[in-house]
Amino acid sequence: MLIDTHTHLLSEEFDNDRDEVIKRAKDKGVEKFIEVGYDEKYSTKLVDFVEYNDDFFGAIGIHPHNAIEFTNTTLKNFEKLIKSQKIIAIGEIGLDYYRDLSPRDTQEKIFRQQIELSQSLEMPIIIHCREAKDNLKKILKEYQNLTGIIHSFSGTLQDAYFYIERGFLLGISGVVTYKNSLALKNVVKEIDMQNIVFETDCPYLPPTPYRGKRNEPSYLNFTKEEVVKLKEIDSEIVDKITAENINRIFKIFNK
Ligand code: NI
Repeated sequence: MLIDTHTHLLSEEFDNDRDEVIKRAKDKGVEKFIEVGYDEKYSTKLVDFVEYNDDFFGAIGIHPHNAIEFTNTTLKNFEKLIKSQKIIAIGEIGLDYYRDLSPRDTQEKIFRQQIELSQSLEMPIIIHCREAKDNLKKILKEYQNLTGIIHSFSGTLQDAYFYIERGFLLGISGVVTYKNSLALKNVVKEIDMQNIVFETDCPYLPPTPYRGKRNEPSYLNFTKEEVVKLKEIDSEIVDKITAENINRIFKIFNK
C-alpha cells in the first residue's frame, strides 16, 4: 500500500476530474491520502471532505504565505475543526523566506502559535520551509516532543539528521526524480528507510516525466521508484516500511 502524505486535491485544478484522479491513484496502488490545508477556508472545507471519504485524512493549518490572515477567530475555528477524528495533524505550517508573502515576524509568530496548538492537542505537525532553515532549526530547538513531517524535504545530510533526531519524518516529493537533485538523492541513499515517507504535493511538484504538468497522486510511483533505485531495496519492503512510518506518527490504521 502506498500513502500520499501531502495532497491538495480540493484545489480548483481538480474541480473537473477529482473523482477520476482519485480512482487513477487507487488503480496505481495509492490507497490513502493526507489532504493538507493552507488557509482557513481550505482547512474548513477539507474537514467535510475527509469526513465523507474513508481513505482520506486531513491536516489543517495556515501556510506561512497566509500567516497574515491568522486571527484569534482562526484559532477558535481550528479548535472546533480538530474535534473531527479524521483530522490527524496541524499543517502545513512553517516559514517561507523565498516568496515572503507574509512579513517574517508574522510568519514566525503564527508558526509558533500553531506549534503550541499542536502541543496542547498532542498532534503531529507538517512543516513547510523554504530558504528559512536556520530560523526553523532555532525555533524547533525550543520545543520538546515534536513530531510530524518535513514537507518536501531538501537539504543536507546534516539537516536530515537534525530533523530526524527531533522526531520528524522526511517527506520525499517528486523533486527527488529530477536529474539535478543530486544532494537530495544522496541524502535518500544515506538515511534509513524508517525516516522516509512519500508525497506528491499535488497539483504542484510533478515528478519526471510530468514536469510542467499538473501533478496527481497516481504519479507517486515515480517518486517511490526513484527511492527504490537509490536505496537498492525491494519495492514491497519500501511500501511496508513507509506505511509503518506513517502509522507510527499518525496512527491512521486505528481510525
Ligand atoms: Ni503543500
